[in-house]
Amino acid sequence: MQDLEALEAELFAELEAAGDLAGLEALRVSALGKKGRLTEQMKSLGQLDPEARKARGQALNAVKDRLQSAMEARKAGFEEAALEARLATERVDVTLPARPHAIGHVHPVSQTIEELVAIFGEMGFSVAEGPHIEDDFHNFEALNIPAWHPARQDMDTFYLRSDAEGVRPVLRTHTSPVQIRTLQKTTPPIRIICPGRTFRADSDATHSPMFHQVEGLVIDEKTHMGHLKGTLIEFCRAFFGVDELPVRFRASYFPFTEPSAELDIGCARKDGQLIIGGGEDWLEILGSGMVHPKVLENCGIDSSRYQGFAFGMGIERIAMLKYGIPDLRTFYDSDLRWLRHYGFVPLEAPSVVRGL
Ligand code: DAH
Repeated sequence: MQDLEALEAELFAELEAAGDLAGLEALRVSALGKKGRLTEQMKSLGQLDPEARKARGQALNAVKDRLQSAMEARKAGFEEAALEARLATERVDVTLPARPHAIGHVHPVSQTIEELVAIFGEMGFSVAEGPHIEDDFHNFEALNIPAWHPARQDMDTFYLRSDAEGVRPVLRTHTSPVQIRTLQKTTPPIRIICPGRTFRADSDATHSPMFHQVEGLVIDEKTHMGHLKGTLIEFCRAFFGVDELPVRFRASYFPFTEPSAELDIGCARKDGQLIIGGGEDWLEILGSGMVHPKVLENCGIDSSRYQGFAFGMGIERIAMLKYGIPDLRTFYDSDLRWLRHYGFVPLEAPSVVRGL
């Protein structure tokens, strides 16, 4: 049987020495655990006679109580110190200036597509899409561009490896195959625009191997050249934001339209600057025409009942003209300075720093 005073002194000395919560826990186990020193003393009470057992039992309980409350006080002290330390290191200095909030910019191509969709959307057009990898039928054949046609040479087509049946897929050279896909699966009336990527093996200041076009297609029973002209004039004036924008339709040729026309808008060049909307010069903007009856027939549409018009234009080209961007290749250089300069702040992202 151990001397209680000595045991208590020993336990309190260990408590004093415990430097953290882990040390306290170790002490608890070694004093009050299953085989702890106080526990062992409790177990040996049975050897004493009743009188002595009572006295020692009370004394042991008193030691146990003192130890437990001292340990709790110590534990509270440790926890408070830990909290103090956290508060000191995690303090927020609310007087610091706010960190600049970096807002991404909308690429001019995305911005222009949004504008196209908004303008044509108001006129009742919906958006259609098609695959980038096309087959000969959709990219050429159905559009009245047979294998021998010189238009195939103009397109600088990227061909992919032939499949098992010897069919060579192509990267679509224009968005016109989406016309075909839409005609094949839709009964007129049709009124769609198809913005998207196109590919040609060409690269200089005004050509890039990947670029964007938007295609338009309107098919109904009585759609005529007047609708084509009205729609495209309306579009040009809305897009360039010039109410009296001069436009002219110039006779042209595309295998998939008959008659075909290119649309020019009036412009002036002053001191090396291009001013859209007046003056003596003309700028070509897009190709268009009445859909060739053969194209309709190729897609299973009765050309004696339905007719309509189509148009196509380069998205980078109209973006360059509208926003004064001189070199097409810079669209794809991924230069952040360029994007900050020519890009657009998204309307949906108001920020505390910049406001709306
Ligand atoms: N697909 C033509 C091109 O890539 C653009 C075009 C011209 C599309 C006239 C049309 C159209 O739908 O009617 O050059």
